[in-house]
Amino acid sequence: LVTELRKDCTTPLPLLRHVADAMAADMRAGLAVEGGSDLKMILSYVDSLPTGNEKGLFYALDLGGTNFRVLRVQLGGKEERVIATEFDQVPIPKDLMFGTSEELFDFIASGLAQFAQNEGNKFHLPTGTKREIGFTFSFPVKQTAVDSGILIKWTKGFSVSGTAGRDVVACLNEAMERLGLDMRVSALVNDTVGTLAGARYWDDDVMVAVILGTGTNACYVERVDAIPKLQDHASSGSTIINTEWGAFSKGLPLTEFDRDMDAASINPGEQIFEKTISGMYLGEIVRRVLLKMAEADALFGDSILEKLSTPFVLGTPDLCAMQQDTSDDLQDVGSILYNVAGVESNPSARKIVVEVCDTIVKRGGRLAGAGIVGILQKMEEDSKGVIFGKRTVVAMDGGLYENYPQYRTYLSEAVTELLGDDSAKNVVIEHSKDGSGIGAALLAAANSKYHSHDS
Ligand code: BG6
Ligand code: GLC
Repeated sequence: LVTELRKDCTTPLPLLRHVADAMAADMRAGLAVEGGSDLKMILSYVDSLPTGNEKGLFYALDLGGTNFRVLRVQLGGKEERVIATEFDQVPIPKDLMFGTSEELFDFIASGLAQFAQNEGNKFHLPTGTKREIGFTFSFPVKQTAVDSGILIKWTKGFSVSGTAGRDVVACLNEAMERLGLDMRVSALVNDTVGTLAGARYWDDDVMVAVILGTGTNACYVERVDAIPKLQDHASSGSTIINTEWGAFSKGLPLTEFDRDMDAASINPGEQIFEKTISGMYLGEIVRRVLLKMAEADALFGDSILEKLSTPFVLGTPDLCAMQQDTSDDLQDVGSILYNVAGVESNPSARKIVVEVCDTIVKRGGRLAGAGIVGILQKMEEDSKGVIFGKRTVVAMDGGLYENYPQYRTYLSEAVTELLGDDSAKNVVIEHSKDGSGIGAALLAAANSKYHSHDS
């Protein structure tokens, strides 16, 4: 079974090249017409990136990863830059992921209200102005302006009733009103867009941002004249496109385990790239493989398989912890299997388990690398030399990228294999930790209703 799995999950260079080409082609098709490809290629309405001149006190909300976060950021302009950042974070309660829209937005607004309360009286805003918020909402949203947008659908296991089809800023405003909280959302952004803005604040060469966490997605800087579906567009300038690449599906080496997991998911047939490469799913794919090995080949002897039969019992952090075990008899792997999946194992079974983890993680990391190359390739084709001929930074964030060393290595190996040493030397893949919160605050400042938008 392991040999077969390795074969089915293999990602040789020609396959990666095909994936990168298909990603680039899907990007073009999605830019040409609405619904032109799996990739939605959403206009962010963010036309100007932070310049460093932003000033004032701004709030940011970040919903969509493992944690819900609230931030307060004090910006001091060119000289002082980010003067202070304070934040609070709480894991999103599981029941809210399946509750009603009102419950979810009440939770967000009350987190914000509590946090805003401890602001103290250091900051006085001019009369008639409200505190402004940059709202990072990490789901596919059809933006209607920089400060409003309609949720297309939930992803990453969220199934909240009553939000899809609604303006999420209106949902937040209603919840703030219920609490008597008088603040205003000045920018609504995807986490990739927040990350790009946050990273760009420090480094002008940032052109792409990628999230590899619970879910996955990428955004990049696009020329306005390369977006045919944008009617009445200005003929010059650039904007940020949120690709929603989690929905990509072409040329991926999928197995029966991926197909079964997809069929059992709450969004079958959707987010296939995300289901193959992101943190929410890697552990679950491995669990399915191990269960089959236990049933068909008695991998874990006569252990009871009740726990191992439970969907999502094995998390990607467990795979990561198992892959860090370098001892001869793989003691840590044994304890994780016992504590998390309820099975007994001997050293040779543990070795197989680590091989399974490595196979699934290697496929994920290498495909993510191919996706990044697809984006860079598309940008390079449109503007020869602008990407590979100079330093280009890809800002990365998300728990999977941050915490899984093997995944990171596989990703960067694939990028170098695909680009070749010459082009690869100009591409910098850089972790931009928690940049999306500050990025959203910066975009709130850049789109402030009250402050001058100096640039
Ligand atoms: C964070 C970003 O660092 O990573 C968030 O600030 C993003 O905006 C998140 O959603 C992804 O996190 P996770 O929990 O899915 O790894
Ligand atoms: C999912 C969401 C997307 C988000 C990504 C990473 O794919 O649809 O909007 O950016 O997860 O959090």
